[in-house]
Amino acid sequence: MVSVIGIFIILGLPIRLLWTAIKYPFDGGAKGKYHNSLAKALKLAICKFAISLSVEDSSVLALVKTNFVINTIVKTLYPSLTKLNNYGKRYDEQSIWLVEADNRTKSDPIIIFCHGGGFFLETQPQHIESLLSMYYLLEEVKRERTSILVLEYGLACHGHLIGTQVHELAATYSKLALEGNDNFVLMGDSCGGNLAIVFLQLLKQEQKMPQLPWPKSLVLICPWIKIVPDKDQLTPGHSYHDNLKYDMVSENFMLDPKRQVALFGNKDYADLFISPGNVPYKASDWSDIPTLHNKGYSTFVITGEHEVFRDDALEWARYALGSPLQPPSQDSGGGFKPFVHEFETSGSDGAYIDVVVEPWGIHESAIFFEHNAAGLVKSHPQVQLKDLDPVEYFGIVRITEFLNRTLVVSQEDED
Ligand SMILES: *[C@@H]1O[C@H](CO)[C@@H](O)[C@H](O)[C@H]1NC(C)=O
Ligand SMILES: *[C@@H]1O[C@H](CO)[C@@H](O)[C@H](O)[C@H]1NC(C)=O
Repeated sequence: MVSVIGIFIILGLPIRLLWTAIKYPFDGGAKGKYHNSLAKALKLAICKFAISLSVEDSSVLALVKTNFVINTIVKTLYPSLTKLNNYGKRYDEQSIWLVEADNRTKSDPIIIFCHGGGFFLETQPQHIESLLSMYYLLEEVKRERTSILVLEYGLACHGHLIGTQVHELAATYSKLALEGNDNFVLMGDSCGGNLAIVFLQLLKQEQKMPQLPWPKSLVLICPWIKIVPDKDQLTPGHSYHDNLKYDMVSENFMLDPKRQVALFGNKDYADLFISPGNVPYKASDWSDIPTLHNKGYSTFVITGEHEVFRDDALEWARYALGSPLQPPSQDSGGGFKPFVHEFETSGSDGAYIDVVVEPWGIHESAIFFEHNAAGLVKSHPQVQLKDLDPVEYFGIVRITEFLNRTLVVSQEDED
């Protein structure tokens, strides 16, 4: 049942949206990147609404399962984009193909996508739309050999506490690996990024299972690595404080003891298998993970300049990836400055690493504010990555470029 507060929040949504629309001619909508777009101001209001629900109340929204989003909503909206081999077909209990490449070999890449939503919200159509956009924007030689599997993991609002999802990912990953597949890309947004990182710790711990290969690549989209902020992060000079006016996440979101119990139970979240950012960082926890360090592997991280979680993502990248990037000391004004906003390695004597701060980006920009790339791909099937506005579609362009560069596909003449 939805709580009384939940009912007020839900009934309040149309009022919030109306208020956003009424104010728009005067205040120009959201602050920062999405100023001057009513549609994006409304999207931001909806995102804030979904996050503000208690974990229990979100169980009602979460009745719309990943399977329904893929097989009904997105399939109906994008009939031409979803005519893909095995689109919507279940692989196992907790995963569904968006595409399984025709005649794929076991060495062709499988992208395993872990959706965001705080471990209490389901996959949204926007996740699938952004993923499909990236897929169609890949160079054809890569695209035709690439498969994408979406993980439909259990949510905290249905009793699956944080820390259990990684075992569902492990079950799917092991099943694929035992079938001989060895070319994995782990991709996740927000808490999905957390899941991907925690999974690396699990693989590290379970090196006694030598048949499990390390993921070839990791793609972290606005990863939520430190689930609970320290109190001093809520003071000026920290992204938790300074970006509140731009972002969808509020500062006391995870400091609410009821939310903590609903997500963690009575477990201590300061644990490498739950919230790595809440454990004092040691480079040695990450230095022997090939995906992050060894030649032939690669890792991509994107975080938004105006994102509340920005400092935490950059901190993890400093310890785990050797990234020198610090939180920007001055506002970018929306312009990209490579020395301030990007750390990229050559990949010639170690893993290829690309850490990017999106100027004025907010949490989940690439998913919830760029997903309309799918509409573009639908109406202009010939569209190419270079045709996309690199500012408006910053995240989708950067992620697709990374995939285009790093996906390793088998050659025509292989079996
Ligand atoms: C897959 O293999 C079948 C049977 O060999 C063949 O008819 C089909 O054209 C192949 N598809 C692709 C995309 O290569
Ligand atoms: C994709 O990668 C190939 C080389 O692997 C490169 O020639 C091409 O320009 C890249 N395309 C994009 C859109 O980045």
